[in-house]
Amino acid sequence: MSDSIILRLARARKTVRKFDSTPVEMADVITVLEAGSQAPSGANSQPWRFLIITDPNTKAIIREASEEGEKEFYRTVGGGLKNWLNGKGIDWHKPFLEEAPLLVLVFSDGAAPYSTESVWLSIGYILLSLEEKGLHTITYTPSNPQEILEKLEIPQGFRLEAVLPIGFPKFRESKEERRDVSEVSYLNSWERKLE
Ligand SMILES: Cc1cc2nc3c(=O)[nH]c(=O)nc-3n(C[C@H](O)[C@H](O)[C@H](O)COP(=O)(O)O)c2cc1C
Repeated sequence: MSDSIILRLARARKTVRKFDSTPVEMADVITVLEAGSQAPSGANSQPWRFLIITDPNTKAIIREASEEGEKEFYRTVGGGLKNWLNGKGIDWHKPFLEEAPLLVLVFSDGAAPYSTESVWLSIGYILLSLEEKGLHTITYTPSNPQEILEKLEIPQGFRLEAVLPIGFPKFRESKEERRDVSEVSYLNSWERKLE
């Protein structure tokens, strides 16, 4: 199993939250979105839509709208999530929305069957494809996507599932640990963990 291309990419991929200004080749982004478009979807509805943003003014609008929503979220967040966020130094500031050379906004068509599930499968394909291209991202899920939908005049019926800032890391960040597959897998019954 260790020679699996997918396993190698999956192990290597990690979230990047600080980007440098090195430009990204549009051809690579298109290849990555082609990979995302190959995902399975409910009734093959292919409910993903991708909006690529390179314009600095539009990036600034997205950042501002996002940070407004995040300020509210960070006022109310509590418990284990708050501790986790604090530990990682994550707060309402989202500079990566302007620092990354390019953003891909990923939408789902709410009228399609299983649209959210399908679009998240597409995002999974995109993440591995980015890794293969040597590109990096953060799967950013805005706390108040409505604000962004309005500011960008997105047609009714489309949900903003994620914003993927794409670029190259400013610093080396370490990958968060994963549980071993044997810890999370069972054979035939919940009583029996996979050895
Ligand atoms: C559905 C989903 C939503 C996420 N939303 C955010 C987010 O809003 N902000 C953020 O900083 N990271 C977000 N992340 C990134 C996760 O925090 C990250 O994937 C996780 O901590 C594991 O780290 P790794 O990606 O480096 O392996 C999200 C990831 C997923 C899959």
